[in-house]
Formats: sequence, structure tokens, C-alpha cells
Amino acid sequence: MSLFNQRGGLLITILTSAVVGVGIIVTSLLLTRPSSDDVGAVPLEATADYGRRLLRDTAALMGPNHENPEQRYTGSHLDCASCHLDTGTKPGTLSLMQSASRYPRFSGRDGFEGDLRDRINGCMTRSMNGRELARDSVEMISMELYIQSLGTQYAAMSESRRAAVEPAAFKEPARAADIAAGQVVYEQRCQVCHGVEGQGLQATLDLNEGYLFPPLWGPDSFNNGAGMGRVLTASLFIKARMPLGQPDLTDDQAFDVAGYINAQERPQMANLEKDYPDRTTKPVDSPYPPYADEFSVEQHRFGPFGPIRAYYENLSK
Ligand code: HEC
Ligand code: HEC
Repeated sequence: MSLFNQRGGLLITILTSAVVGVGIIVTSLLLTRPSSDDVGAVPLEATADYGRRLLRDTAALMGPNHENPEQRYTGSHLDCASCHLDTGTKPGTLSLMQSASRYPRFSGRDGFEGDLRDRINGCMTRSMNGRELARDSVEMISMELYIQSLGTQYAAMSESRRAAVEPAAFKEPARAADIAAGQVVYEQRCQVCHGVEGQGLQATLDLNEGYLFPPLWGPDSFNNGAGMGRVLTASLFIKARMPLGQPDLTDDQAFDVAGYINAQERPQMANLEKDYPDRTTKPVDSPYPPYADEFSVEQHRFGPFGPIRAYYENLSK
């Protein structure tokens, strides 16, 4: 009996100290929880989770007005997720789920075989109008880890969840984009979110928090070296994804509104003449010269692209 009491006493002591211990842990967690200012702090080690946040909250975590000048990487307040929807997890157009498996691969634009980090820097300097990340930076490795983790997720997904829920892929009309018709589409279907001047709508009064609706042109948009600056790439995206939540444009409407957007002013990237060292591999809708053909810049920007394609097909015969 006395033994039992002793044992019981021991048990109570153990339980009590455990409860006190948990209390101490909880208290210290609360006390050391980062203040809201620390939330954007750079972790010391690369993680896929930090990578996910970088793609989702790009403007806040490495935007052009970051309070730490060294952390200013992008030149616009777009997020990667402004184009790679649902932080790259949405199957279909511009999904990043299978991207890791596509690299390394040859880039005609760069003229060499690049890996996923090179490709990320492609979007950093063009789509984000920013500067390159160091290949071994915490940011770069985190984004790579995140995109790799999407590949693992994808491999585990069922066929039905992999299927893209989007309209039939854009088919290019055999004519030039009609900018005036594109303006009408813009005013009727896009302006409500993207703004009268294509300037978008900030998420909060603080631009550093990024956009609720991102800009489509103007000083804070992607630059003229970006993929979205190509009218066919933009048409493909717009037909598949826009208007957001209700993508129902015809091929003609998507083509014209893509032409309208890319007829507007946007940041200009330096040294674009160095792109595509083999100029015969330059996409027909690359909006900036030089070209290996005599077609006008105008025709390369807005079409019709059929004659340009035919010219190169004849060359290779
Ligand atoms: C303005 C739109 C836009 C923004 C913003 C953007 N991208 Fe992209 N991204 C594109 C387009 C367009 C492509 C090219 C797709 C293709 O080649 O068919 C692309 C391609 C990629 C690819 C290669 C995908 C593949 O499977 O080959 C990666 C990786 C990528 N982007 C990462 C990023 C990251 C990281 C950011 C942010 C730092 C970012 N992108 C921001 C438009 C954008
Ligand atoms: C209901 C609001 C809404 C409408 C209407 C809308 N968009 Fe968007 N758009 C968005 C949002 C939000 C994003 C960013 C993606 C995200 O956050 O999921 C986006 C992204 C884009 C992007 C890529 C990012 C960038 O800034 O360049 C383009 C291009 C685009 N929209 C074009 C259009 C076009 C063209 C139309 C009209 C046909 C249109 N959108 C209509 C909300 C809208």
C-alpha cells in the first residue's frame, strides 16, 4: 500500500512536471514567435516551403522596394503566380508541375543548354523585369526545391486531377491581330480587373504587398523580352485562363486582345539583340529584332505569321 502511494506520488510528480514543461515550451514559442516584421525574413537554409512563398508572394519577399536593398531582385511587383496560376499547381497552361523534369534542356534563346535555375533566371530578368539570382542563393535553391516538389506531387496524382480544366487550346487566326478590336475586348472583358490604363489593382495601399489584379502593361509590367510579350504566347495564356474564372474568349478575341496588350508601352530589356544566337530559330512572333528574314518588326509583333513560317520552311528544304 505504501509502495503504491509512493508510486502514485512519483507519477503525479512526473505528470506535473510534464505539464509545467509543456507550459514552458508553449510560452517560449509564443515569446519567440516572429513579429510581423520578421515574417519576410530570409531563412538561413533553402526549403521548398520558402520557395513556394517566393513564387506566391514574390513582390513582398523580393520586390523592387524591399526594405533590405540586397533583397531587391524583381523589377516589377508581379508575383510568379500572376502567370503560373495557383503558384504553379494548376494543371494546364503555364503549370509548373512537370517543369523540373524538362531540364536541363537546350534554349534557343540563350544558345546553350540550361538547367532549371537558368530557366528561373529567364523569368526573373524578363517576366519579372528584374536581376538574376545567384545560382547558389537561398532564394534560387528554394524555388528549385519547390518546383521539384511539384514534380513529386504530380507523379502521385490521379489522372483526373492531372487533367487541365480549360478551354480548347488557342488556334491562331490566319491574319494579323486587330488592335482596335482587341481594345473593345479589353474594355468589355478585362478592364474591370486590370484597370483603364492596364495598371492593375494593388492588393493594399502598400504596393510592396503586390497586386490583387496584376498590371498588363506600363512601367510595372513584364518587359519586352518576356514570353508574355509574344502575341502567340499571350494568346495561348489568355484563351486558357482569362477572364479569370470565366475563360470563354474565342480564338479571334484572344488574339486581338493579346495584340492590344502588347501594342502598349512596357519596360524595355537591354541587349535583346544577343538572344537567339542562331536567328533562324527565333520564334516567328518574337517582338524585337534582329531577324534572319526581311519581314517587318510590325509583322513579327502582330502577324500574320503564316508567311513568315512559310519562308523558314522553304529555307530548310
Ligand atoms: C508575366 C508572366 C510570367 C511571370 C510573372 C513569370 N513567368 Fe515563368 N513563364 C512565363 C512564360 C510565358 C513561360 C514560358 C512557357 C513556355 O515556354 O511555353 C514561363 C516559363 C517558366 C518556367 C519553365 C517552365 C517549363 O515547364 O519549361 C519556369 C520554371 C518559370 N517560368 C518560373 C517562373 C518563376 C520562378 C517566376 C517568378 C520569379 C516566373 N516564372 C514568373 C511567364 C511568366
Ligand atoms: C476577375 C478579374 C479578372 C479579369 C476580368 C481578367 N483578369 Fe487577367 N488576371 C487576373 C488575376 C487575379 C491575375 C493573376 C493570376 C492570379 O492571381 O490567379 C491575372 C493575370 C493575367 C495575366 C498575366 C499576368 C500579367 O500581369 O501579365 C494576363 C496577361 C491577363 N491576366 C490578361 C487578361 C485579359 C486579356 C483579360 C480579358 C480578356 C483578363 N485578364 C481578365 C484577374 C482578371
